[in-house]
Amino acid sequence: MTSQELRQKYLDFFRAKGHTIIPSASLIPENDPTVLFTTAGMHPLVPCLLGEEHPCGKRLTSCQKCIRTGDIDEVGDDVHLTFFEMLGNWSLGDYWKKEAISWSFEFLTKELGLPIEKLAVTCFEGEEKNNIEQDNESAKLWQEQGIQKERIVFLGRDDNWWGPAGLTGPCGPDTEMFYWVGEEPAPKVFDPKDKRWVEIWNDVFMQYSKTADGKFEPLKQRNVDTGMGLERTLAVLNGYDNVFAIQEFEPIISKIKELAVKPNEKAIRIIADHIKAAVFIMGDSHGISPSNVGQGYVVRRLIRETIERGKLIGVKDGLVVPVAEIIISIFKNIYSELQKNSDFIIDELIIEEKKYNKAITEGLPEVRRLYDFYRTLGEIKLVGGKDFFNLYQTHGLRFQLIFEEWDRLCQTFKTPNLSLINRKEEIASEYSNELKKHQKSSQTASVGMFKGGLADNSEIVVKYHTATHLLHQALRQVLGEHVAQKGSNINAERLRFDFSHPAKMTAEEIAQVEKIVNEKIKADVPVHFEMLSVDEAKQKGAIGLFEDKYVKLGNQVKVYFVGDPSVDSGQAYSAEICGGPHVEHTGQIGSFKIIKEEAVAAGIRRLKAVVGK
Ligand code: ALA
Repeated sequence: MTSQELRQKYLDFFRAKGHTIIPSASLIPENDPTVLFTTAGMHPLVPCLLGEEHPCGKRLTSCQKCIRTGDIDEVGDDVHLTFFEMLGNWSLGDYWKKEAISWSFEFLTKELGLPIEKLAVTCFEGEEKNNIEQDNESAKLWQEQGIQKERIVFLGRDDNWWGPAGLTGPCGPDTEMFYWVGEEPAPKVFDPKDKRWVEIWNDVFMQYSKTADGKFEPLKQRNVDTGMGLERTLAVLNGYDNVFAIQEFEPIISKIKELAVKPNEKAIRIIADHIKAAVFIMGDSHGISPSNVGQGYVVRRLIRETIERGKLIGVKDGLVVPVAEIIISIFKNIYSELQKNSDFIIDELIIEEKKYNKAITEGLPEVRRLYDFYRTLGEIKLVGGKDFFNLYQTHGLRFQLIFEEWDRLCQTFKTPNLSLINRKEEIASEYSNELKKHQKSSQTASVGMFKGGLADNSEIVVKYHTATHLLHQALRQVLGEHVAQKGSNINAERLRFDFSHPAKMTAEEIAQVEKIVNEKIKADVPVHFEMLSVDEAKQKGAIGLFEDKYVKLGNQVKVYFVGDPSVDSGQAYSAEICGGPHVEHTGQIGSFKIIKEEAVAAGIRRLKAVVGK
């Protein structure tokens, strides 16, 4: 089976069960500053799992692009990927366990034709301390489908609970489906520890919300959230023992082999994975390019590691671009954004490859200098992670490369006393402490962000969302209708808003905008949303990103209004296309203050503002 077939089969199956197919959301979470990337299909749906209406209804299905950087060091083994696609179906307060389980079973056995003899499941064993019962209901439903009792195992939170990926948010017990890949017939009794049972699908019953004080409160509605890793399932279905064997990787891997002088399986897998992830991140229409912060830092890391691995397998230069071109050509029909952004992707890759080749040429002699320095000191003092970090700081050399070069020098000059092989972990941990300190001080992405997590819908962040709408409208009022949002970023400390305007704002203009926003807060105006057609939204003067994913979904968009709901919403003070969430009335914001105005690019200004009591 090909990936195209599996994608189509899945989406068609759930469409036939009353689900609307929604396109993959962006890899860069919108309105969510707490994480760098979309990590699961449910991620863009968090507001809807919490009770907001989705423009496409209560049953949804999608194939979502995902990035998980938490597993990046595992890539190269048989199952881990940085970028992957996740098939999923959702019930937003609609169907529950019975339908979810019977459809999962039907899809696996009828559509994919998997024999029941090779299937097994796990269910949640319950948790006394949180007063959550063992999920006997799911187990019974599986049995009704014909799964034998011996093939149902109850496990605890570590295995059968999903979410919240961040500190708070929707979560719940899950039931996971396993497929037997062993050569011999599947044993009668299911042992989840046996690696020949491979997990292929996960149905999460999201009925709780984890609160900041660690309690599990029932959600307003009971949701189903499922996730099937496309690449992993395809590998299993085709009888392959690793995800890189699937058809889509074939031309990518052939190209790398063609460019390599001494091909090495692990290096090839890492290169294929990393270039693919970098291409998808840069191709996501957010203009992310390699840099030292946020998503750009991840892209840089992916490309630089690729170049290093490339050198190890004897690729001279020009590895990244030819492979990226193949990746774009394979996926452009499914993800048209890759085609649209292909010039950008290729240009950025050329620049980064050049930069890193230069860094290596200039940096490796510095490793040698450092080595010589410690060699003359003998064993009096040992090289540390801080020395390595300094090389990264000044030359951009990654830890692994420095480490390998050091090792090579120790071997060449026969100085086992300077070898770091046994101290690798210690040095790596010192290095990463330095990196963390640096990232903190330069306010780059915090370490937590690399782990992935859920949207921050905390009270304060929600206040900032609504304050941003008021600010946007007030700017249009004071500066003119040419003001359009160019970017927005919110965290619990402040909001940041980029917009088009040709000149620096004067002190009077800033004061005026601030005054208007504070008046609207004081007037405690109600906030509500309506689902409208694009035309209706335009008629009502809605501003915002019309190309946003909500528009592309079909006929309806979600428009938030700040204005009296009993009066025609066309008269509202602010009307803006947005996924939410927002406060219920503006008084909840408290107060508003602009703390900074600056330029970001020609014709684009940036404001930072805070809300308070
Ligand atoms: N959100 C669930 C997962 O990622 C379905 O496995």
